[in-house]
Amino acid sequence: MDDRLIQISSPDDIRNIRSQFPILSSSVYGKPLVYLDNGATTQKPNVVIDAMNDYYRSLNSNVHRGVHYLSGQATDAFEAVRKKVQHLIHASKEKEIIYTSGTTGAVNLLASSFGKKFIHAGDAILISSIEHHSNIVPWQMIAQERGASVKVIPVFDNGDLDISALNTLLDDVKIVAVNYVSNALGTVNPIQEIIAKAHARNIPVFVDAAQAVQHMKIDVQALDVDFLAFSGHKMFGPTGIGVLYGKVKWLEEMPPYMGGGEMIKTVTFEKTTYNELPFKFEAGTPAIAEVIGLGAAIDFIQSIGIDQIQNREETLVKYAVNKLSKIEGLRFIGEPKKRAGVVSFLIGNHHPFDIGEILDKQGIAVRTGHHCAEPLMNIFKIPGTVRASFAFYNTEAEVDQLIVGLKKAVSMLG
Ligand code: ALA
Repeated sequence: MDDRLIQISSPDDIRNIRSQFPILSSSVYGKPLVYLDNGATTQKPNVVIDAMNDYYRSLNSNVHRGVHYLSGQATDAFEAVRKKVQHLIHASKEKEIIYTSGTTGAVNLLASSFGKKFIHAGDAILISSIEHHSNIVPWQMIAQERGASVKVIPVFDNGDLDISALNTLLDDVKIVAVNYVSNALGTVNPIQEIIAKAHARNIPVFVDAAQAVQHMKIDVQALDVDFLAFSGHKMFGPTGIGVLYGKVKWLEEMPPYMGGGEMIKTVTFEKTTYNELPFKFEAGTPAIAEVIGLGAAIDFIQSIGIDQIQNREETLVKYAVNKLSKIEGLRFIGEPKKRAGVVSFLIGNHHPFDIGEILDKQGIAVRTGHHCAEPLMNIFKIPGTVRASFAFYNTEAEVDQLIVGLKKAVSMLG
């Protein structure tokens, strides 16, 4: 155990860490909040809230533009976070880190820019059955624009992807786009295997790590992944900021996504030349305070250590799965071989929304519905699920409250 890290193993440790998240000690409907909707967004520790406040109080200025003191300070702080992101995911170069508005912004940038350069009529894009809409729709849009098609890796009933299908599915594919962890089922995909199979045929791979980066170590060089994206707000940082990582060899070739200030080198009315990486993809004034907040969130995660976070969450999720499995009539939607953060289920014939509403009145926040994965719900022929999604600050006591809440919901719904 590394004693430089903040410990999260004992109940006292967890109480201490929870005290750093103001919202976790709040109440709803007079009941203590049990926040189990971390897949939608995580709560924010004081250090993130304070970093953003401090920025607006003492540093607010535009970046990369001014000759004045504040602008220089803001630019330094803004660029220092790019380095933190680089280290977090072990990218080899700072210029491989592009700030976006979130994972959705990153996928749209990638699909549009990569598609315009590399996807042509008759080509295919390969996604999977367990993607979030944000890793489906942008690919459909560019496929339509370029006269290409979208193919889909099938899913087994337990929520694992059928990777054996890749051998035939990879024909004509110009890019593979898959998530690391399914937001709807919690499946951890065998990304390394997918990348190896795609690379054997010189096909690049994009990984949507929105539901992974807060749960496990990500090393883009070890994975040899071509592109990867994630959002600040799902890793204890603010909304409105995300990252697209890309290998330089691809990013250099790709055209800009948006035009405007900052992404240019020279502009005349006749012609524009573009800025170098990463600025070529960062038109306009960026989300500066949010970048600063993201930096604070990365520091916070690293002060605990992602390995410790992963261990703690594995224990907690195992506990939740075991407790939930004892509820009569409960059916897990997705029982993947490897799971992170998310447990989805249905109980009897009860509509997930009804269960979610009754839980809410007991102070328990879960997400219900299709989780922006409507095609997956159609495959499983269900309207949606109840989803409990966890962060390391959740407790076994909160899982117990969920169980009590579910039993109450079942008895009320009859
Ligand atoms: N993608 C987020 C979720 O799964 C919003 O809830």
